[in-house]
Amino acid sequence: MLTAYDFTFARLLDEAEIDMLLVGDSLSNVIQGNDTTLPVTLDEMIYHTKAVVKGTKEYSMVVCDLPFMSYQTSDKDGFRNAGRVMKETGAGAVKLEGGERVCATVKLMTDNGIPVCGHLGLTPQSINQFGTYRTRGTTPEEANKIKQDALALQDAGVFAIVLEKIPAALAAEVTKMLKVATIGIGAGNGCDGQVLVLHDMLGLNEEFHPRFVRKYLKLAEEVREAFKMYGDDVRSGNFPNKDESY
Ligand code: KIV
Repeated sequence: MLTAYDFTFARLLDEAEIDMLLVGDSLSNVIQGNDTTLPVTLDEMIYHTKAVVKGTKEYSMVVCDLPFMSYQTSDKDGFRNAGRVMKETGAGAVKLEGGERVCATVKLMTDNGIPVCGHLGLTPQSINQFGTYRTRGTTPEEANKIKQDALALQDAGVFAIVLEKIPAALAAEVTKMLKVATIGIGAGNGCDGQVLVLHDMLGLNEEFHPRFVRKYLKLAEEVREAFKMYGDDVRSGNFPNKDESY
């Protein structure tokens, strides 16, 4: 799984046979420039998910994050909003954060034909409650709560659970415990799958260097260089040349 927010990248990801494209609420950070994932709205998630779905003709399944306050207000609100995502975007599933607290909402969705992916460990929508993006599940109490939440989500019918920023040994233990898939981010290689934010793994986000991000490209450098070359060419009259003109 990788995140995607637009048609062009979705098409490339689909061609590269990435199994799942997550339209993450991280779009609040990497696309909208906000400090947290809280400001992005359901309408904005739907707008981007529609574009991503259009890019996935052959291979990838699209999962849309339910943003902050689209499911926390009541089970029915969550169900209705997940229904909007499925009806209006063509996504294959929704994702939401939390454990036992959200299980009634999850069950309402999964009982009515909406596939749901859970999300445990570091849950960025609760950043104001935690105050930091530190690793979760490092104390026995936190680790036990994650295990209990994972089992509760499985019982509520999720098809997978994202495990974010928890110790590798705990993630491996949770993975062994569950029948449904786990998808890790900063959770070691004992999970069934992995997810990264697209802009991080492409090296587009130069300020963000957590140890769990492997940068497969240094795209920011290349893109900046291309922009500089274009600016120089236009200023010097080198672009467009005869072959590039009618
Ligand atoms: O919003 C997002 O991109 C996510 C991933 C980090 C799992 O939830």
